[in-house]
Order: sequence, then C-alpha cells, then structure tokens
Amino acid sequence: MFLKMKELWYNKEKKAASKIIKMTDKEHSNEDPQKREKVRRLSNLAYWASKTGEQIPVENIYEETRVEIETLLKEQPIFYNEEKDVTQRIELEAEISKSMPKEFYDNPTRWIESQPNINRKYEEGYLPQGESIAEFQEMPYDISKVKIVTLPDKKARKVVIKRIDPQEKTEISRARKAYEAGIPTPKILGTIMDQGNTYAIFEHIDGHNLNSLPQERHFMHAPRTITDKLLFQQTLLSSKYWQKLSAQAQKKLEKLWRKYLPDILFKEISLSFIRQAIRKDAYYNREQFLFDDNGYPTEAVQETLKLHGYETLDDVFAAYDQDAQKCENKITRKIKEKTEKILKIFEEDWNEICEKDLFGISLTEETFRLKKLCEQKGIHHKDFANRNLVLSSGKKPKLYLIDWEENIQ
Ligand SMILES: Nc1ncnc2c1ncn2[C@@H]1O[C@H](COP(=O)(O)OP(=O)(O)O)[C@@H](O)[C@H]1O
Ligand SMILES: [Mg+2]
Repeated sequence: MFLKMKELWYNKEKKAASKIIKMTDKEHSNEDPQKREKVRRLSNLAYWASKTGEQIPVENIYEETRVEIETLLKEQPIFYNEEKDVTQRIELEAEISKSMPKEFYDNPTRWIESQPNINRKYEEGYLPQGESIAEFQEMPYDISKVKIVTLPDKKARKVVIKRIDPQEKTEISRARKAYEAGIPTPKILGTIMDQGNTYAIFEHIDGHNLNSLPQERHFMHAPRTITDKLLFQQTLLSSKYWQKLSAQAQKKLEKLWRKYLPDILFKEISLSFIRQAIRKDAYYNREQFLFDDNGYPTEAVQETLKLHGYETLDDVFAAYDQDAQKCENKITRKIKEKTEKILKIFEEDWNEICEKDLFGISLTEETFRLKKLCEQKGIHHKDFANRNLVLSSGKKPKLYLIDWEENIQ
C-alpha cells in the first residue's frame, strides 16, 4: 500500500527530499521502522503542501490509502533522518564532550531528538504545538528543531542544539564567523553529523527572544490619540504596563507627551474634521460631539482650522459637500506633511524610555547597533526579526543576534 502512496506523491516527495525538517519524540522510538518512515514522508509532504498553501491530498486517492493517511496525520511529525551506514562525525569542545551522557554517544540523533523543545514563551501561542502532522495545515513550522538541553554534569549547564536545515549549509560557518568577529551571538560549542542529520550545539543565552518578552512590550504604544491630560492618566494608569514602569519613567513619559501635544492635537483634530464632515447629518449635535466629548481645547481647534485654510467648522463641511474626496485628500495630505515625521520621533522616544525602564536597554537602539556592526564586519544577517534577537536576563542585559540561516523561513 505504501508503494501506491509513494507513486502518487512522487513529485512532491522529490521536493520534500531536498529539505528535511524534523520533529520527533521518544514515543516513536519503539515503533516499527516502516511506520516511522511513513510518518516521516507524510510530515515532509504535509509541511511542503502547507508552505505552498496546498492541502494534504486525501481526496481522489484509494480509499484504503486515504484512511491510512488520515490516521497518520494524527501522529507526531518526524523530520530527522535515521539513515544507516552514513558517516558520523562528532566535534565537541572538550568541556562539552566530557559532559555528554553515554546515551548521546550511543545514538546521537535519538538522544538529541528526545530532548525538550526550547521554550519560546509567549511566542508559542502563534506556533504549532508539534503534536500532530495535521497541525501543518494551520502553519508550517517545525517547533522541534531547536532543543534545550541540560547537561548531566555538576553545573547542570544548559546548551541549545539546533537541527540544521540541509539547505542551510553555511549556517554553522556563518554563526562561527559572526562570533569570531565580535558580534554578540551564541558561541558554537560543537557540531554533530549523524544518520544523515546535522546539528550544532550553541551556548545557551538565558533570556527571551524579543517576540517572547513580557507581553507589555506589545502595548507600548505612544498615546497618539489621547489628547486630554486626565484621559492620558486614566488610560495609562489603568493599563498594566504603565504600572510596571518606574515613577521616574512615568514622569519622563508625561513630559514627552506634553512636548508633542500640539502635534498630537493637530492630527487628532484634523482627523476629527473628516469624521464630522462624514457624519454631519447624524442626529447628534456635531459641534458638541467635536468639542465636548473629545475635549479638544477651543484654541487648538481654531489653530487647526486656520492651518487647513478654514475659518469655521462649517467651512470644512461646505468644502466637503462640494467635493468630499478633494477635501479629505487635502486634510490628509496636510496631516502627513505636518505630523508624520514628528510623531514618529515621539513614538521612538516613547519606546526608548519604556524599553530602558522595563528591560534595561533600548532594544531599538541596540538592534540598530547590531545591524551596523554586521555591515561593518561584512557579515550579512538575513532577518533581524524579533524572534532572532534574544535579550539576556540578569543584571547586565545584552542583546544577541541568533539564527544565521540564509533563507527567510
Ligand atoms: N542560543 C540560544 N539561546 C537562547 N535561545 C535560543 C538560542 N538559539 C535559539 N533560541 C530560541 O529558539 C528560537 C528558534 O531558534 P532559531 O535559531 O531562530 O530557529 P529558526 O531557524 O527556527 O528560526 C529563537 O527564537 C529563540 O527563542
Ligand atoms: Mg529564527
């Protein structure tokens, strides 16, 4: 039966064969090799189908095969190889080689693959669980390729072991080169070739990748739309992250907000003109809505009208009635021209104060510095994404750049 499946999937398998992505667990280790092979093939197929936006082909195939595939889809994926009679090569730094247990030397692949996946903290909500092949229909990501390993020695030292994608032959050498060039990146402590798999052992950075930092980080938006001091305080004071900031940072932020308030107001009031013009035939009193509910100071409204070339709000409505699109474009253009750059600086300054206070360093600044450093050293990193930047915890926080693959996943 498996031969039939093989025939049907031949073309896809060819594609899959060039990229081996793995996932495993000790659960598999006692199962029969033929079934493991099927799971491996289906894992690759499902992964690639999902990557190209296709469904796993369970329709239009022999009933018997379809039932089997559906059962196999519930299995935990396998992406690592178990080839026999292939070269084995283990190169470890002395301190690591002494700490590796006997089970590792008996069967490196089996031992590594049975280690726990690295904890990706908050990011995990966005990744598959790694429990079934069927999960790839939602998202093609192999969560099992990066393992966190506690070495069984006195120090219980932690290391990270990454299964290297066969299409990423240069990852190890680039990571090494980067480390040697002084770029903050985990040191490579060893490499392993076993049963057709390549692994690299990395120094473990005790911390979080930037996607996984405490979630408050994702709420650190400057309050562009909060124009009233009371509202500013109420909204922020009730937000979780504001409470985490030191009193000093809170003070700084408030000062910053005050500094940019005229620009914030200009943008807000201008946008409100458009809103009002659109809704002007609504049942409520539009002027009251504008001035009372939003609490814009009258002088700021007058000033904004003037800057747009209008005397009164009714002038705006008249212009809007004449040519809505033209009026809206004119106002939008002016907003952009006057506030885009300046409010971006506001946002950056705001984030910097928050980041320094919450994490000890400015992540934005540090990321920029890392980018410059890579340029300077002539080592290209393909993806400065948050998940590839790890902030160490501890007294002296430091930002590390990881993942020296060449292709964006
Ligand atoms: N040396 C390390 N120290 C600490 N965490 C790491 C280390 N290497 C990887 N990680 C964690 O594992 C995640 C995936 O590692 P990465 O090398 O980026 O794999 P991928 O190629 O799947 O993106 C990272 O986002 C990070 O959270
Ligand atoms: Mg990565």
